Amino acid sequence: MEFSLQTLLSFLLMTSYLLHVHGEDNLETNGCNLYKGSWIFDESYPLYESSQCPFIEKQFDCLHNGRQDKQYLKYRWKPSACELPRFDGEDFLKRYKGKTIMFVGDSLSLNQWQSLTCMLHNAVPEAEHTSYRVGGISTFTFPDYDVKVKLVRNAFLVDLVNIERTGNVLKLDTISTGKIWLEADMLIFNTWHWWLHTGRKQPWEFIQEGDQVYKDMDRLVAYEKALKTWAKWVDSNINPAKTNVYFQGVSPDHNLSTDWNDADARNCTAQEVPIKGSIYPGGPHPAEKVVRKVLSTMTKQVYLLDVTTLSQLRIDGHPSVYGHGGHRDMDCSHWCLAGVPDTWNQLLYASLYT
Ligand SMILES: *[C@@H]1O[C@H](CO)[C@@H](O)[C@H](O)[C@H]1NC(C)=O
Ligand SMILES: *[C@@H]1O[C@H](CO)[C@@H](O)[C@H](O)[C@H]1NC(C)=O
Repeated sequence: MEFSLQTLLSFLLMTSYLLHVHGEDNLETNGCNLYKGSWIFDESYPLYESSQCPFIEKQFDCLHNGRQDKQYLKYRWKPSACELPRFDGEDFLKRYKGKTIMFVGDSLSLNQWQSLTCMLHNAVPEAEHTSYRVGGISTFTFPDYDVKVKLVRNAFLVDLVNIERTGNVLKLDTISTGKIWLEADMLIFNTWHWWLHTGRKQPWEFIQEGDQVYKDMDRLVAYEKALKTWAKWVDSNINPAKTNVYFQGVSPDHNLSTDWNDADARNCTAQEVPIKGSIYPGGPHPAEKVVRKVLSTMTKQVYLLDVTTLSQLRIDGHPSVYGHGGHRDMDCSHWCLAGVPDTWNQLLYASLYT
């Protein structure tokens, strides 16, 4: 009796051990890190044809601008431990009935906003849509679904003000434009690219913090100060019962091919395939580290759309000379559409279910 009880017990222990091991597998799938993985070829991609997105901006419409290679359209992001859920635009629209989705940031926000509107339109091609722009604010609506997808152009998030006889001043510690952000039910912030601009592209003459005025500053330091100001704004203004806040991770550019150990390429021109595997030779992006650091200090929940590494692998995803219409302008910063930002939106969609 004792013996068989022991046998039974050890049998049960063994079974639960096996179940546990098996269960861990499942757990890993459920709690799978969607941002760890690699790009795999998938004939069923892209998710939509750019020619079927009637409002696509010329700068992202690489095929229309003459790009001949098409393999870059055929990659699907494959998380190592699970599958990324397929985007269901109609489901997305139903879940956001009566609500406003708002992107706030620079032209990388424009890139993702445009991708999302193309993906949603593709899901319900017969549904009416309207789009208008007033000042720096674009509003795309699907009246039948009562959903608004907005874009608020704001390169720094903190204030850029004109002061008479001084010029434009970038104020690292103030945000006075946030009132409009509070309309949104889903807010997706982004800032980075403009922090690097110098010379003619730099839109400020001075940087100010408190009473201190600087001619210039280490740009990563300035970026961190501004993000802290933004974080404080979110912590003191966002009502989590109404609004979900996201930070669109730093979008990497591919200006320098030495970053991916290809000295011959020089830049993103003529790159037709992604980097294989999960590791970017150039290592983590310095701005991404700043983003993580600041987000970790916040009291309100902010979901990091952690797209930096997966986008770093897509040296083939940029317009290069097929962006601004075939002239010699080189664009290794934005992304062709259809393309990489569609995956960012798939991840945004997946976040609704985790
Ligand atoms: C890459 O080039 C673009 C366009 O020339 C520029 O706007 C961007 O700041 C550059 N990025 C870096 C990291 O130098
Ligand atoms: C980009 O690389 C191509 C060749 O790889 C080169 O011809 C071109 O001058 C480069 N453009 C810029 C802006 O660096």
